Amino acid sequence: MVKKASHHLKVTDFGNDFLWGVAIAAAQNEGAHDSYGKGPSIWDTFSKRNGRIKSSHNPYIACDFYHRYKDDLLLVKALGFKAFRFSISWPRILPEGGSKLNKEGVAFYHRMIDECLKLDLVPFLTLYHWDMPAALEKEGGWASHLLLKWFTRFATLCAEEFGDKVKNWIILNEPFGFTSLGYMLGKHAPGKRGMQNFLPAILNASLAQASGGQIVRSIVSKSRIGTTFSCSEVIPHTHKERDIAAARRVDVLLNRLFIEPALGQGYPREDFKFLDKLELYTWKYTKRMHFDFDFIGVQNYFPVVVRYSPLIPVLQAMQVKAVRRKVPKTAMGWEISPDGFYNIIKRFWSYEKVKEIIVTENGAAFKDKLMNGVVDDVDRIEYFHQHIRALLKAKQEGINVTGYFAWTLMDNFEWSEGYHARFGLVHVDFRTQLRTIKNSGYWFRDFLNSR
Ligand code: GAL
Repeated sequence: MVKKASHHLKVTDFGNDFLWGVAIAAAQNEGAHDSYGKGPSIWDTFSKRNGRIKSSHNPYIACDFYHRYKDDLLLVKALGFKAFRFSISWPRILPEGGSKLNKEGVAFYHRMIDECLKLDLVPFLTLYHWDMPAALEKEGGWASHLLLKWFTRFATLCAEEFGDKVKNWIILNEPFGFTSLGYMLGKHAPGKRGMQNFLPAILNASLAQASGGQIVRSIVSKSRIGTTFSCSEVIPHTHKERDIAAARRVDVLLNRLFIEPALGQGYPREDFKFLDKLELYTWKYTKRMHFDFDFIGVQNYFPVVVRYSPLIPVLQAMQVKAVRRKVPKTAMGWEISPDGFYNIIKRFWSYEKVKEIIVTENGAAFKDKLMNGVVDDVDRIEYFHQHIRALLKAKQEGINVTGYFAWTLMDNFEWSEGYHARFGLVHVDFRTQLRTIKNSGYWFRDFLNSR
């Protein structure tokens, strides 16, 4: 149980223009994985491999959003949100990753976006939220030198197709997330490991991020272009110099590795030796990794506490160990820290070139129980309450944060956790696809209506 926040929170404290939204992603929600012309994504193939995803779950049906999007968008509306963040499934529109277009896939996104506009929901389109076409992964995926060519084709197509209707664009969802989990640690699709995969993947992701921004800006009139970064406050376990230095190395990885090249500062090499291997790339690419983003999407879930340890074999240059504190945690085992949320927003704002921040994801999984048609998820209510209060503090201190997206609309396919981790404001019964608004959903509705 989380400590209760006493202060009463009103939506009007954020001003009229502040944008409240809710986020989903294609691979986690759509389902219809092999119908209507869609090709397999890396998550479809990854989930066939033994032991990679809890209980051998897969994203084949997920929340069946593909068929139920109209009702689901009505839920977004009913909860009082003004904006809806979703992603385009790359293999739904380019099933083989090449130039062969799946018109049915394109038509689906047109229908869905039209429905958003009809309901007066502002669409936020994410180009890449982790579901690369499996066909491209066979040729090396994010680690391939062909990546930029593939991504250019995808981004151009989306901008040309949807640019008249969608003005808010997000190029990548958490490049550190998919490169580290997918190409360094092997925990996410495509399940690759090691520096030989990680280093080219981070370089390609940075280049794709900037060039994607340029493509969208050149095609879409009046666009607002952002990209998202995962981030965590990194706290040294003690004041000892070696713990502080360990925290600095982790901070480079978790918080600086992608935003600094995006802002035109190149890689943060001085604080972390392994990046020296990127020296080859640095001088050549610093300019090409830079794009003048209209907003930066901040995605925060937890802080991390680290200490020095010479014994950790994963990344030898790291020499760090995570410390587990006895503090309230979510069902993911993540520390709950509204202060950490506030601190990291402040930190990202301290970059001179960041003009505007939108919190593009924040939320929590808890062990929800559906009883007599009710999910009384008090912990999640408390989580949102405290984090939104921390956000208000940041805003009142003059940080230009203009929006907040809750993660997520409904329980969905939580990557390698399968359907075990529930993050939704709406409960989904995955056997029947029945939706039940959780009490946190009603809490949001009341908060958003507290005008
Ligand atoms: C983010 C990711 C989301 C969601 C969330 C909760 O990193 O972008 O897709 O899964 O974490 O774990």
